[in-house]
Amino acid sequence: MMNIPIAKTVFTESEFENILKPLKSGWVVQGPFVSEFELKWSEYTGAKHSVALSNCTTALHLSLAALGITRGDEVVVPSFTWVATANAVEYTGAKPVLCDIDLTSFNIDPAKLESLINKNTKAIIPVHLFGLSANMNEIMAIAAKYNLAVVEDAACGFGAKYNGKHVGNIGDTGCFSFHPRKAITTGEGGMVTTNSDELAVKLRAMRDHGASISDHQRHHGNKPYLLPDFPYLGYNYRMTDIQASIGSTQMDRAVEIHSARTAIADKYDEIIDSLSWLKKPFRNSEVEHGFQAYVCLFTPEEIHPGNISNVNKLRNKLMDHLQQKGISTRPGTHSVHMLDFYRNKYGFRNEDYLNSCIAAECSIALPLFPSLSDEEFKYIAKVLTEYKI
Ligand SMILES: Cc1ncc(COP(=O)(O)O)c(C=O)c1O
Repeated sequence: MMNIPIAKTVFTESEFENILKPLKSGWVVQGPFVSEFELKWSEYTGAKHSVALSNCTTALHLSLAALGITRGDEVVVPSFTWVATANAVEYTGAKPVLCDIDLTSFNIDPAKLESLINKNTKAIIPVHLFGLSANMNEIMAIAAKYNLAVVEDAACGFGAKYNGKHVGNIGDTGCFSFHPRKAITTGEGGMVTTNSDELAVKLRAMRDHGASISDHQRHHGNKPYLLPDFPYLGYNYRMTDIQASIGSTQMDRAVEIHSARTAIADKYDEIIDSLSWLKKPFRNSEVEHGFQAYVCLFTPEEIHPGNISNVNKLRNKLMDHLQQKGISTRPGTHSVHMLDFYRNKYGFRNEDYLNSCIAAECSIALPLFPSLSDEEFKYIAKVLTEYKI
């Protein structure tokens, strides 16, 4: 029987070769490979500055900290997102204010955003979920109107564009993830991008305990014996050179990785179009999808508050059937307001963010990774088209 995972990490010979370089040189902490990876990331995304970090959660936290978000502040985040988006706000002492999503795109609904803004609101974190850009024109207009910072959660945003611009380049910062479910992976890892020189200086220092120069610069400068100044409260959010050697090498096939993912998504679109009970991921002429994941809405009937749990049961039955056939699936993601920590802290009920609840209970991600073979794809298509609700 086939055994098709939801995602698959494949490293190439050049990655195996390059990972040995920091090991052989002995310089394994943030160093030349991190710089090289950052340059390639900037080149690919068009961002003026890229700062490599330990993961995307630290990228989100560092962005908020560098922007001065603190206790008493409020930050608007979508309710349907990986919990890290809201957690990063909690780390600063500020309050994450949840905003429901648009069920068509699975992204934050700008029409619901403005009413959540008050005198304490300092920032918005739009999430480009599954590689689809949020509606950045409307979000940036609201941010400008209320003088709010915008931190893009582009954890899934590799290859995603909005009106021709790579995501992560539109707000004050963009935060990317290199977890193995993402298109580019370094095991764990993250990148924060910014077009602000001032923020870049702060982010570079704050990822490294607040130090004014990095260890590598100090060791290779003319006064390696002197410790640097520490002008900021910093953290140890650095990426290692071992991780960056993999990331930098993978960037040499960035275009190839993105096209392979899109080609599989295009094939899925054709199959899903023929199934009345699955809605394919949204695309239009404004966006180029990154396809971190291929997430559909399971809609055997129109979903409303009264039938969510029944549709959820049917969705789980489909997932179980696919699992029995050797095809892995997952829900798109979870909804923050339905998670115990947030439910207990803020007293949320499922129906408070209805679209997010529907998305969490009725979405389904299908296997998508560049090495998914034609044979595997045909098998998935056959199992899906033969399925009886
Ligand atoms: C939308 C979103 N934000 C943040 C994160 C956190 O990324 P990391 O695991 O790199 O910290 C993820 C990870 O899946 C994510 O999907």
